[in-house]
Amino acid sequence: MNLTAVVLAAGSGQRVGSDIPKQFLSLGGRPMLHRSLAAFEQAGEVDSVIVALPASENAASPELDGFPKLVARVPGGDTRQASLAQALAHLPEATDTVMVHDAARPLLDRRLVRDLLAALDEGCDGVIPATPLEDTIKKVSDQRLVEQEVDRRGIWRVQTPQLFRRAALEDSLTRAIESGMQSTDCSQMLTAAGYRVRVIEGDPLNFKVTRAPDLWLAERVLASRPEEGE
Ligand code: CTP
Ligand code: MG
Repeated sequence: MNLTAVVLAAGSGQRVGSDIPKQFLSLGGRPMLHRSLAAFEQAGEVDSVIVALPASENAASPELDGFPKLVARVPGGDTRQASLAQALAHLPEATDTVMVHDAARPLLDRRLVRDLLAALDEGCDGVIPATPLEDTIKKVSDQRLVEQEVDRRGIWRVQTPQLFRRAALEDSLTRAIESGMQSTDCSQMLTAAGYRVRVIEGDPLNFKVTRAPDLWLAERVLASRPEEGE
């Protein structure tokens, strides 16, 4: 297997509401993006890394020189899917397996990388981590009245990193573009194209930093963790 990790960091982080995109905010003393890059650097199964950055970002910035597995820094697009397409266009020839990760999930653990790889077998073309929903779920109207109870059995919250066979991911992306589908989740493209995607238990602490309170929470989780390999 030859594995490339694609780190999507080309968003603008509107919902966090900071001056700079959230992936460049300091988290535990280093930019949030560096947390994901460091995790893949330390994961022996990962051969190379590609990062998609905002077009406005200086890709030559020496800040990223400390990650030897980084083989390409590409300008992202207007949507997550467009950023993914830009990154996939730079995959090394030898790559046969791709792990796609959001820079907005800085608490990713090496164990999750291993679990995903262990679950990729003949019966599937992709593996994603997810956590079962534990809260009561309701459909709420625009007027904020409870409209309907939703049965939460079988409903999972999906995370990244997500692991795919390269051919299946590239084929699914081509089909998504052809059919005008825009997806914020890669595995959605695969299932739409008829591929099988396996689900493994994700890590509840691998949450996405979406709004300001998530940053506060991520700081505290990091403070409670011993730093690995630093
Ligand atoms: N992303 C990207 N290119 C885009 C949009 C998003 O690479 N055009 C990346 C983000 O950098 C992030 C991940 O996709 O790591 C998940 O997106 P999200 O959490 O929605 O981040 P943003 O789009 O940056 O935030 P917001 O939606 O609040 O503006
Ligand atoms: Mg977004």
